[in-house]
Amino acid sequence: MKPNQIKIQDVTLRDGNQALRRPWTLDEKIEVFDLLVALNVDGIEVGFPSSNETEFVASKTLAKRAPVGIPIAGLSRANETEIARTWEAIQYANKPRMHIVYPVSDFSIRHVLKISEAEVIQKIRKSVSFARSIVGPDVEIQFSGEHFGDAIENFSFTKDAFLAAIEAGANIINLPNTVERYRPMVFVNMVKEMKDFIGDRAKVSVHTHNDLGMATATSVECVYVGAEQIEVALNGLGERAGNTNLYETAIALHQNGESLGINFQRIYPTAKRIAEMTDIPIGEKTPIIGDDIFSHRSGIHQDGVAKTIKQTKGAYRTFSPEFVGRNDSETISFTNQSGHRAIQFLLEKRGVSVSNEEIHRLFERAKAISSNENNREITEGELVDLVSNYVTAS
Ligand code: KIV
Ligand code: ZN
Repeated sequence: MKPNQIKIQDVTLRDGNQALRRPWTLDEKIEVFDLLVALNVDGIEVGFPSSNETEFVASKTLAKRAPVGIPIAGLSRANETEIARTWEAIQYANKPRMHIVYPVSDFSIRHVLKISEAEVIQKIRKSVSFARSIVGPDVEIQFSGEHFGDAIENFSFTKDAFLAAIEAGANIINLPNTVERYRPMVFVNMVKEMKDFIGDRAKVSVHTHNDLGMATATSVECVYVGAEQIEVALNGLGERAGNTNLYETAIALHQNGESLGINFQRIYPTAKRIAEMTDIPIGEKTPIIGDDIFSHRSGIHQDGVAKTIKQTKGAYRTFSPEFVGRNDSETISFTNQSGHRAIQFLLEKRGVSVSNEEIHRLFERAKAISSNENNREITEGELVDLVSNYVTAS
């Protein structure tokens, strides 16, 4: 069961920001907000307004700046003072969304909250009803059951907790994998059971963290059991190993035929800017945005790449660099792992044409140089020099 339209809700300015070594200033938050608007995400969580004055001012400023129709969420703990403060900040948005979080896992209830399950339900009811009383009937209220993914022992209790939130006025139930501990399908099955239980009484959202590196997979699969909203972050920012990565999630869903409003060409410039703004570099092998992800070095791959380079579907490419706004292209480089095709491809790129026999000889020569010199890469320029110094001379 898949929803008609999947909503991409960004939490970079809240979960991402709260985990930065130096949280962003107001001006920086404005810049990130504008990047998110340009990416055309479906909704933006702008901050945690009750946590400090900067967050309050930033959330209020961004709420006022928000384009019409984009849900602008502010996170609050489940107490009246903080909910009121959050509302003070986000009420200026064209479409404000109150987001309340309270733990629901057995572990957190017993070891962190140290209260009974009945008290948890009471706290949820009281805080959500209070929020409903101040925001009025038309504003969305999202309730997150923190540590939902860890609520295996008390899963049936979590149903009561979410039902209490819905009865008190919540219309979005967010299911966080606050700490990723189990297999993706364990979480996906929990989301499925919860969606079946909730039905049309509220929208179901997922929010996953990447402690085991499976947040994207987990969130993407949740769409196919009924999750209507996925919470994501730019560059996978967020607590510890981060949140579900916006770029990976959007491309994965797009590749699987889902239609999203995301402006895919904005992905790469956005990622680069966020890396600068956070001082968190992008790894060379990072999916979608890493420097090395369009390089091909083995002979088998190079042959497939060279034969399909002009086709929409490449033998060793899921999407093209241009699709995500990159201005580089697929590259073939020569090492002692490479094949004849690499020589031909690289020379043709330089406008040098040689016979098949010469390619064969060049290949043997270039491979020997690479192997004798610690398996190093042989550059295009060196290959061109080899043509004049070696092939033509012999
Ligand atoms: O990870 C988490 O549980 C959260 C909630 C506020 C949704 O960030
Ligand atoms: Zn989180």
